[in-house]
Amino acid sequence: MSRSDDDRDCVNIVVLISGNGSNLQAIIDDAAAQDCPYKVCAVVCNSPIAYGLKRANNSGITTRIIDHRDYPTRRQFDQALMSTIDQFAPALIALAGFMRIVGPEFIEHYEGRIMNIHPSLLPQFPGLNTHERALADGAREHGATVHFVTTELDAGPVVIQSSVPVLQDDTPETLAARVLEQEHRIYPRAIRWYAEGRLSLHRGKVLVDGAINGAHPVTTS
Ligand code: GRF
Repeated sequence: MSRSDDDRDCVNIVVLISGNGSNLQAIIDDAAAQDCPYKVCAVVCNSPIAYGLKRANNSGITTRIIDHRDYPTRRQFDQALMSTIDQFAPALIALAGFMRIVGPEFIEHYEGRIMNIHPSLLPQFPGLNTHERALADGAREHGATVHFVTTELDAGPVVIQSSVPVLQDDTPETLAARVLEQEHRIYPRAIRWYAEGRLSLHRGKVLVDGAINGAHPVTTS
């Protein structure tokens, strides 16, 4: 059963994307459940040709395009993003395959209210090409991480991780597909925790149900 459009009883989130938007789709699908405590009030994208925009449109979700190429500096791009996002007054901003680095002003503006999904078991393989690097390193285990965003790239406190085995005949593509399945499981779960008030960032530590999560991230596989 899908959530009725005029349901105002849930937490609003804005999702930022750059491309395919399969994580966005997992979030949209989760938000359609009757018991879901959050709602995607807008999708903001830096690329006018991203497939994720179609996914949002298909679900009747408001979209905004803030093309980074229209802004001479990162700061101006960040400002445009912030004023767009703030029109929706979201409780949470979820970066889902958003391929632009946001600056400190942006991060401070939404402190404790921005999450990201990263395709590795952080702190291993921050940055790009994580699957290629995991294979080149001979990793036996790989996975995905949801974390709060801080000013240090891919180094914010971990909320939840999920691991997958690396198989002998894996290519970056087969490994990416296995990891992506886990991304689709854990990101909606983390967003639910946040929307239910069970998850927060307190003095740089992740609290889940009032207990510090930092030293022992929840791992699910
Ligand atoms: C995902 O692997 C995400 O972790 C990474 O970029 C990819 C985006 O995939 N940051 P999608 O756009 O959600 O399909």
